[in-house]
Amino acid sequence: MTKTLLLLPGDGIGPEVSAVARRVAGRLISQGLALQVEEALFGGASIDACQLPLTPEVLAQAKAADAVLMGAVGGPKWAGQPYDKRPEAGLLALRAGMNVYANLRPARCFSALADASSLKRVFVDGLDILFVRELTGGVYFGEPRGVETLADGQRRGVNTHVYTTSEIHRVARIAFELARGRKGEVCSAEKGNVMEAGLMWREDVQALRDAEYPDIKLSHMLADNMAMQLVKNPKQFDVILTDNLFGDILSDEAGMLTGSLGMLPSAAIGDPGTPGLYEPIHGSAPDIAGRGVANPCAAVISLAMALRYSLGAPALADTVEAAVEAALDKGARTPDLGGTMTTAAMGDAILAGL
Ligand code: NAD
Ligand code: IPM
Ligand code: MN
Repeated sequence: MTKTLLLLPGDGIGPEVSAVARRVAGRLISQGLALQVEEALFGGASIDACQLPLTPEVLAQAKAADAVLMGAVGGPKWAGQPYDKRPEAGLLALRAGMNVYANLRPARCFSALADASSLKRVFVDGLDILFVRELTGGVYFGEPRGVETLADGQRRGVNTHVYTTSEIHRVARIAFELARGRKGEVCSAEKGNVMEAGLMWREDVQALRDAEYPDIKLSHMLADNMAMQLVKNPKQFDVILTDNLFGDILSDEAGMLTGSLGMLPSAAIGDPGTPGLYEPIHGSAPDIAGRGVANPCAAVISLAMALRYSLGAPALADTVEAAVEAALDKGARTPDLGGTMTTAAMGDAILAGL
């Protein structure tokens, strides 16, 4: 049966890297993949057209699709908007609306790129970490939230870090299941030394492991130490389990271990049978947007993850990832990787392997 992929190019370099992913999907369709690609406005582009970063119609379209591939959202143009009218608020609403609570962010360093990392080759060559980041809870969504003006005229800003046991268990379960197909090791990050909710996270993750996953080697690490360990000896990690905020920060850090933030894809998944949301972990990169030099690899590998987890085509996912690796092996490099190729030329190099 024909599956549906909804493309949400978004803002800045989002449409530039999405165009390459779309070409890759088009090539696979021409080779027999039963896939229908739809496209809709999202983020700042949607604000410009209809005053909302995510319209109810586009959310319904996303929930009806088999997979959603998002480029990136945000930028200086919309930075002055009220908080809930910003492109980023649309992304949070999309994640919550699709109930994609587990964000898989694989940080793999292709051998060809080991010298593009800011760390020495020996520390990153062969690196293969899988971040499992909780995506629909924590301080991103907790209530109360907001800014109020106090009687004395100063302002008071509040965000609330909150998790329930069921929210922790459902994302931890995904980390444990995925670890079973890898080295079987999970390291969970929190700040249980200063936050009650962090200590509870540690206890709940440990209890689930003890009850249902005795074969998994589970360790716990304070998130600040993990930030240091990621640059000291990143290959010590297999699967890293985090809350929403720590996972955001630590996965950007890991981006640089792979050579560039432009290499890191992601898959946001929820309960079985529901559509997944796929996105590069990078943003709209206003500093390079419009110049046609953004690295499209993260977007293309995000498409591969969609093929693997939502579109029932795991073999094609392997093919697409191999095409990216082959292009890199042949020396294809955008400027972030130390080269001079345009986004489109990098796309040509990837398509040459398909
Ligand atoms: P960013 O990820 O957009 O850029 C950080 C740095 O990495 C920049 O120097 C940029 O040029 C570079 N970079 C990022 N992706 C690249 C690519 N594919 N190829 C080459 N270089 C790349 O982060 P930022 O500058 O802090 O944020 C810019 C905007 O993007 C903000 O509005 C932010 O909210 C938004 N944002 C959106 C997402 C998303 O849509 N998922 C993620 C992060 C940030
Ligand atoms: C990401 C981004 C988003 C996040 C923003 C744009 C809402 O930084 O996907 O990593 O913080 O989750
Ligand atoms: Mn981020």
